Amino acid sequence: MNLLSVAILVFLSIFTVCHGKDKASLPNIVILFADDVGYGDLEVYGHPTSSTPNLTKLAEGGLVFTQFYAGAPVCSPSRAALLTGRYAVRSGIYPGVLVPTSTGGLPHNETTIAEIVKTRGYSTSMVGKWHLGVGENGTYLPTNQGFDEYLGVPYSHDMCPCYNCFYPNDPCWNTCDLNYTYCPLFNNTDILEQPVNLTTLDATYVQRAKSVIQRNANAGTPFFLYYAFQHAHHPQFASKEFRNATARGTFGDSLAELDWCVGQVMEQLESSGVLDNTLVLFTSDNGPSLRNENRGGNAGLLKCGKGTTYEGGQRVPAIAYWPQRIAPGRTTELAGNMDFLPTIANLVGATLPSVALDGVDMAPILFEGKKSARDTFFYYFTEPNPKYGIYAVRYNQYKAHYYTQGQQNSDEFNHDKDCRPSANRTLHDPPLLYDLDLDPSENYNLSSKEYSQILAKIQEIKSQFESTMVWGESQVKKPTSTAVEPCCKKDCTPFPDCCQCHRPSWSSSILSTLGNKDFAKLRWTRN
Ligand SMILES: *[C@@H]1O[C@H](CO)[C@@H](O)[C@H](O)[C@H]1NC(C)=O
Ligand SMILES: *[C@@H]1O[C@H](CO)[C@@H](O)[C@H](O)[C@H]1NC(C)=O
Ligand SMILES: *[C@@H]1O[C@H](CO)[C@@H](O)[C@H](O)[C@H]1NC(C)=O
Ligand SMILES: *[C@@H]1O[C@H](CO)[C@@H](O)[C@H](O)[C@H]1NC(C)=O
Ligand SMILES: *[C@@H]1O[C@H](CO)[C@@H](O)[C@H](O)[C@H]1NC(C)=O
Ligand SMILES: *[C@@H]1O[C@H](CO)[C@@H](O)[C@H](O)[C@H]1NC(C)=O
Ligand SMILES: *[C@@H]1O[C@H](CO)[C@@H](O)[C@H](O)[C@H]1NC(C)=O
Ligand SMILES: *[C@@H]1O[C@H](CO)[C@@H](O)[C@H](O)[C@H]1NC(C)=O
Ligand SMILES: *[C@@H]1O[C@H](CO)[C@@H](O)[C@H](O)[C@H]1NC(C)=O
Repeated sequence: MNLLSVAILVFLSIFTVCHGKDKASLPNIVILFADDVGYGDLEVYGHPTSSTPNLTKLAEGGLVFTQFYAGAPVCSPSRAALLTGRYAVRSGIYPGVLVPTSTGGLPHNETTIAEIVKTRGYSTSMVGKWHLGVGENGTYLPTNQGFDEYLGVPYSHDMCPCYNCFYPNDPCWNTCDLNYTYCPLFNNTDILEQPVNLTTLDATYVQRAKSVIQRNANAGTPFFLYYAFQHAHHPQFASKEFRNATARGTFGDSLAELDWCVGQVMEQLESSGVLDNTLVLFTSDNGPSLRNENRGGNAGLLKCGKGTTYEGGQRVPAIAYWPQRIAPGRTTELAGNMDFLPTIANLVGATLPSVALDGVDMAPILFEGKKSARDTFFYYFTEPNPKYGIYAVRYNQYKAHYYTQGQQNSDEFNHDKDCRPSANRTLHDPPLLYDLDLDPSENYNLSSKEYSQILAKIQEIKSQFESTMVWGESQVKKPTSTAVEPCCKKDCTPFPDCCQCHRPSWSSSILSTLGNKDFAKLRWTRN
């Protein structure tokens, strides 16, 4: 070999490392997204009676975040934030959440993580709770947003009548929402089962997740799996193995089943031989639903919960796992679910969408043990309104509340009156200021002269950010219509009870015992 060919070879290999990442070396990405699991709910975050051994194992081998934020304090906007790397006010996923009759959804011109990794040849799959719209003919379902395949219930499993939560046929805590059609289980845009059988749902999800991993590993195709649990949102449910299995009641049972699913996914990554080449990210969509009290999760020492812009509403557990690349430990660096998109895009060598992004690349924290590129975080309320704008700003360890407000998900009977829905929106001028490192529970207002420079700096950051914020048209406020509600028997009567389709494997014992008539009665007499 002469010098020139050596030089060419060296150049080519450098070029390959920097640009050409061939398909085989592209890492797989798995996002495990829990529902309403609070900062204090996992064993590894200190809960004394939860049983989450697989998440503990993930945490022991991975990087555990203590300052990680969901992009919003409720479900739909948090999911929009995760998948687009943008505050959901930009994509119009506000106020509140989408419902089964919503005609809107995540706009098709938003770029999702799935669409980004597809440009690099990834296979993209979603399993579980979508909650970014169904719409007419399922136009907003995941398969129209960059996912090759989808299996799941497309919204919360309490947005439908619920009747059978624990194996084999124990009732749910209540009857959930009787105004909508039974919860559907979608396969792509087809309904596989309606009502979905919650006691077999996790087995169904896990089976799909495992087959996605196995199939892609066999084919040598890099894959992105977005697995969003229905757990541990109320009503809690569980299969045979987890019914009455924990010391923490139904919430604990639900969480234990979630943990089992995590274990199943990890075992499959290992047995398929791709564990070493897979980035696994675990987090939750928002804080605990305190109105459900002991059935609603725990924010640990953080103030309030779901729905609020206090820490309990948005600071959530998060674990990043990749033994080959991520050193195990704990980090106090600031990060959030909007950071997944730029992190993943850069990792796989994809181009970032040319939109205003709110996420930052987490690579320095994950792979280099360095400081976060993020030093600010903006908190938008559950019902964001351009008139009030951002409720709170975090800057380094400081957090300034311009407005505070309670919220129904944080419970009318909360011991802390600030969390209650009766705690009306309150303007703070000067803003309330907390040092979250010293005072994570937001108890001691520092907003005095001594801190005027910090407050001035935060004000400057806030004004600058808000002056460039473009609010998307609200998708949630679009008129609702029962015509878009999922029904496996289009145009059947009497609607919505007639929307029932069972998989052949169903024993359908409970429906025949109760009789559909009883359900029809329940449906319209609920107060
Ligand atoms: C998507 O389209 C809407 C309506 O035309 C527009 O207002 C919005 O800015 C677009 N969003 C993106 C990310 O291009
Ligand atoms: C939904 O499907 C119906 C029947 O095929 C069609 O008439 C209608 O235009 C479709 N709507 C959308 C938004 O695709
Ligand atoms: C169901 O609809 C009725 C009548 O529109 C309404 O009063 C009630 O609040 C709804 N129930 C739920 C759980 O949304
Ligand atoms: C899901 O849909 C795909 C095609 O859309 C089909 O090939 C597959 O068999 C379906 N799976 C189930 C469980 O029905
Ligand atoms: C659990 O056990 C209790 C008492 O042993 C029983 O009442 C309850 O129905 C069981 N099932 C669930 C799902 O908690
Ligand atoms: C994790 O989950 C699997 C099943 O998913 C289970 O067999 C195992 O015992 C769990 N615990 C640990 C520590 O792996
Ligand atoms: C909140 O506002 C409502 C409506 O204006 C009012 O009735 C209520 O008293 C207020 N609550 C408190 C705690 O001030
Ligand atoms: C926070 O502290 C500032 C300065 O002492 C004070 O003006 C403000 O009223 C305090 N806010 C509350 C809600 O106590
Ligand atoms: C749900 O599945 C379980 C396990 O197969 C079965 O025993 C139960 O009867 C099913 N529930 C309904 C409502 O069919």
